[in-house]
Amino acid sequence: MDHKSNIASTIAQITGLEVEQVYKLIEIPPQSDMGDYAFPCFVLAKTLRKAPPMIATELAANEKFAESDIYTVKNVGPYLNFFIDRGFMAADTLSAVNEAGDNYGTANEGEGKNVIVEYSSPNIAKPFHVGHAFTTILGNSLARTYKKLGYNVVRMNHLGDYGTQFGKLITAYRLWGDEAALEEDPIKELLRIYVKFHEEEKNDPSLTESARENFKKLEDGEEEEYKLWKRFRDMSLVVFEKLYKRMGVEFDNYNGESFYSDRIPAVVDMLREKNLLEESEGAQVVMLEEYGLPPCIILKSDGTTIYASRDLAAVLYRDETYHFDKNIYVVGIPQALHFKQVFSVLKKAGYECADDCVHVGFGLVKFKNMKFSTREGNVVLLEDLINESVSKVREIIAKNAQDRGDNMTDAEIDEIAEKVGLGAVVYTYVKSGRERDIVFSWEDMLDFNGDTAPYLIYTYARTRSILRKALDQGFAPATDKETLSKLTSDDEYELIKSIGDFPEAVKKAAATYEPFMISRQISLVARNFNRFYNNSRILGADSEELTKARLAVCEAVCSTLKSGLDLLGIDVVEKM
Ligand code: ARG
Repeated sequence: MDHKSNIASTIAQITGLEVEQVYKLIEIPPQSDMGDYAFPCFVLAKTLRKAPPMIATELAANEKFAESDIYTVKNVGPYLNFFIDRGFMAADTLSAVNEAGDNYGTANEGEGKNVIVEYSSPNIAKPFHVGHAFTTILGNSLARTYKKLGYNVVRMNHLGDYGTQFGKLITAYRLWGDEAALEEDPIKELLRIYVKFHEEEKNDPSLTESARENFKKLEDGEEEEYKLWKRFRDMSLVVFEKLYKRMGVEFDNYNGESFYSDRIPAVVDMLREKNLLEESEGAQVVMLEEYGLPPCIILKSDGTTIYASRDLAAVLYRDETYHFDKNIYVVGIPQALHFKQVFSVLKKAGYECADDCVHVGFGLVKFKNMKFSTREGNVVLLEDLINESVSKVREIIAKNAQDRGDNMTDAEIDEIAEKVGLGAVVYTYVKSGRERDIVFSWEDMLDFNGDTAPYLIYTYARTRSILRKALDQGFAPATDKETLSKLTSDDEYELIKSIGDFPEAVKKAAATYEPFMISRQISLVARNFNRFYNNSRILGADSEELTKARLAVCEAVCSTLKSGLDLLGIDVVEKM
């Protein structure tokens, strides 16, 4: 039940304020001994001509509050503090969570609304490095989160599959391409010849010319060049898709830059008709001084299109095709100016959909004391990072199993290591606010007691094993409210409250484009659970009733952790 709305409407009735206004004013106190909700009385001072503490005293005595058997009210200074009855909260929260199961946190606020999440968007023929992982992981999480809230989500991968570099690749391939190497590791070979092209080009201007011609032929749809380009694209996609599959990442389409290229003339015509195109140093630009931005180049002086023009065409296509409620771009902070320009050009051209486009930026990826044998150039490949993490986790899991005397099979260990090792990488990207740089270090990532995926997955697996063991002994989690309302200790209260706050965290994550709101909440649930578990007995509690009630808490912890981890793109394991 939504206690906040309930309290807001009672306050509104008593004071004559609008419910929405009251709702917005209600705070969650920083400490739980100050109650579950607090209403600051300052707003009423003017109309009532009284000091806020006095107002709080009078309001607290109002009999409308006394009618509620769900909460009690106390005035502290200028605040009204509301304490939800612990037994009521336990019964109310746990029965709702356990009924929802894995669907806990699901809502329907997005019904009938289309949200586009564009993420990953790597460049064809380039290695998939740890920076692309940031957009991939954030975007995947946002897509899952919006879906959970009932939105119709369109997951788009805006592949970097167009531009003059493909002319260079075609020239380079014809001169130095090695078929066997290409089949073996396409991206490595394509990168090799691309780098070679740039080296050779310094002394041989004819290469530049040949690349330009080849790109022109590609744009004109000449068969030979198109075929080569298509082959490079397909080969790269095979590599990317393998990685996506491993990570549980999916897309509804790969409409990349090339997809929009033949829609650009219409954009240019539209801008020209609206008198927005101006010539500047030979290029065609849209001036944006009224937005405090530098001009946005639409056509280069040689008439070729650029990145921004393809993005303009993409927004218009998406608007037409999906009538989006939101069009979200998960792209690094360095491209912030680019997106401001694109959205402002559209705004200037009178497109309302410009206001529904959002750039969701993120920070840089760094490494602390980590050595990598970098396969390609000096970037760290995501695949190498994941492999290394999985193999380190495997060692830990195998050792733990051995210490416990548990004969897990190699296949079992492999499966657990894959999920936990991958989860450890993914979690590092979503455990803090997205605009902060992240620093990878094995100690932090793989700390089974830290704020990590291994810790959360381990907490889940152990809780599942408690439930299995209880079932073997004939105990099933309680479902009736009377039994559930016995959970009123401080540890139980804190834990259940953190479980109950999960749906709100999911909504906040979507509204602020911050998956970290979810990771923070489930991490709190896991900590609260571990405290509760250390201090109280589950099997062998004072009464059978209490055992069953506590098992219901275990079940709710599992649903919350699983649901939250799934929203982050992390799988759980049943045993670890
Ligand atoms: N391919 C680009 C890169 O790797 C990112 C594309 C971002 N999306 C967009 N619509 N411009 O930097």
